[in-house]
Amino acid sequence: MGENKLPRHVAIIMDGNGRWAKKRLLPRVAGHNAGMKSMQEIVRRASDIGIEHLTVYAFSTENWKRASEEVNGIFGLLVKYVASELAEICEKNVKISVLGDYEALPDEARSSIKKALDDTRDNTGMQFNIALNYGSRAEILRAANRIVSEHGADVEFTEEMLSRYLYTGEENGNIPDPDLIIRTSGEERLSNFLLWQCAYSEFAFTDTLWPDFSPGEFQKIVESFGTRERRFGGRLK
Ligand code: FPP
Repeated sequence: MGENKLPRHVAIIMDGNGRWAKKRLLPRVAGHNAGMKSMQEIVRRASDIGIEHLTVYAFSTENWKRASEEVNGIFGLLVKYVASELAEICEKNVKISVLGDYEALPDEARSSIKKALDDTRDNTGMQFNIALNYGSRAEILRAANRIVSEHGADVEFTEEMLSRYLYTGEENGNIPDPDLIIRTSGEERLSNFLLWQCAYSEFAFTDTLWPDFSPGEFQKIVESFGTRERRFGGRLK
């Protein structure tokens, strides 16, 4: 596939862990554990094929409504992920960023994140953005409030300015808008994910449950992106 058609930024809504577990009569946390393994493989493949930015929706501001056992299970997996994968992440020169209010996470998860951010700060390969305690409406409101507090209430907003104050903005190196958003498990909605940033994104939906989503399927979707015609509101020449 032509190098120029590779999406720079792929974002993924990793959905279906619960249903995967249910089908096997396992607790939901077992589904998230399988989902974490899937995520590790996709990070590896994305970095190997030269994706510049991979963003995953790991925990939304709405996910706090789940049972505390499940919530704690997901944060436990995050700690496990950092402990077991950080060395390989560094070896691959991958830089980790977090989108969302991770200060509100339990202590252990917060210190794991801080370590992952610190240890990968100077890496120059793929940027792996983990959306954690992330919600897009909250992100847009936070950006607007920060702009007003820094520039005064009569500030004139511009698109460029708002973009800079989002989690994907200056604080995380001005991440380009996602070219491609993938959602697994057959659901076709955005669930408060990257609402501002997805203005011109392409979408790909697959029925595969996230724990069954393979690097091969990921690569196929990425390759099919290369054949799409994107016009950004303009006309075909
Ligand atoms: C959605 O499936 C998945 C989540 C809410 C959690 C995603 C977490 C991981 C992939 C593993 C942990 C990794 C990190 C970095 C914390 P769902 O539970 O909504 O599935 P369902 O719709 O089938 O119930």
